[in-house]
Amino acid sequence: MPTSKIAGIGYYVPQQIVTNNDLKKYMDTSDEWIQERTGIKERRYAHRTEETTTTMGVEAAKIAIERAGLTAQDIDFIVFATLSPDYYFPGCGVLVQRAMQMKEIGALDIRNQCSGFVYALSVADQFIKTGMYKNILVIGSEKHSFGLDLTTRGRNVSVIFGDGAGAVVLQATEKTGQGIISTHLHSDGQSAELLAMYNPGTHANHWVKEEVASFSNAPIGDMFMSNEMIDKAQNFPFMDGQAVFKKAIIKFPEVIMEALTKNNLAASDIDLLVPHQANLRISQYVQQKLGLRDDQVFNNIQQFGNTTAASIPIALCQAWEEGKVKNGDLVCLAAFGSGFTWASALIRW
Ligand code: ACO
Repeated sequence: MPTSKIAGIGYYVPQQIVTNNDLKKYMDTSDEWIQERTGIKERRYAHRTEETTTTMGVEAAKIAIERAGLTAQDIDFIVFATLSPDYYFPGCGVLVQRAMQMKEIGALDIRNQCSGFVYALSVADQFIKTGMYKNILVIGSEKHSFGLDLTTRGRNVSVIFGDGAGAVVLQATEKTGQGIISTHLHSDGQSAELLAMYNPGTHANHWVKEEVASFSNAPIGDMFMSNEMIDKAQNFPFMDGQAVFKKAIIKFPEVIMEALTKNNLAASDIDLLVPHQANLRISQYVQQKLGLRDDQVFNNIQQFGNTTAASIPIALCQAWEEGKVKNGDLVCLAAFGSGFTWASALIRW
């Protein structure tokens, strides 16, 4: 049975740097508050019209494909993870297929937010293990800057997020002892509304009754997207930050230990943990809980903010470019986010 290895990796971030002080132009916040609570110093925002979630994904993909020694024509399947797609539908995968002039291959979008990249990697891994595909392009990309409430009203959420993309080529290999060892996926929908963007959507307040009483008489079109929703800022992400924090610091260590235990390994065996860059405080808590040294954990949230589905491939690529991931290393990826969903992957590089 073939296994899968990362044959090429790339990332792309937009040129525009937005510092914490830059955000003060739009909202009542401070560099001290943001750094103390999240660790973030700056993030990138995509060009308003010339860059999209897909175009950034394509830039990252070009690098990953070239580093794999392949061309776009060699790709058998696309898995694209994002919560900020170019269109409500169709997904970004087909836009990548078009932009990169690929063959008429399958394209799948994954909607698992912060865990999206690990879920995408796991899906691609299964396709390779069954022998169905040999070279799968896996992308995580986000253009958050278009969907944030950049006023004081939305500051608890908007200061956290940034734009960017990361991609890998997952490739079939017959070589043993290299590549993805195992992936572990979880969800608990009990808290779906604690970190969510409600609108536009088809929920019609089915889940959150108290929100809009006038909804029952609204024309159907207004229930999908209305001026009232915009007035109430319901077209922006909502986050109960403290609830997310409390759950994240339990589930991150749990899912990392699940991966290690399954493979008879211990935390001390990890050469590099690349956690989803949710918040530096969360990563530091996880590091401490697992007893990991500083050189065993890679963080770049200070530089790029939280880029959701893109954060793990960007961080993994940056770590690899800096020589922090070497052949034979045990790399652990772990994520937690909206859903709630959480996931981990163990890779022998
Ligand atoms: N600048 C200045 N003040 C702010 C800001 C801001 N950007 N945002 C909120 N505040 C104020 C609030 O209004 C509040 O003021 P008050 O005490 O006068 O009412 C005060 O700061 C504290 O607000 P809280 O929301 O309680 O702040 P908290 O300490 O919980 O920190 C944070 C917020 C950073 C979001 C934190 O809850 C957190 O890290 N949660 C984890 C969630 C997370 O990491 N999410 C990332 C996305 S999801 C994911 O990737 C897993």
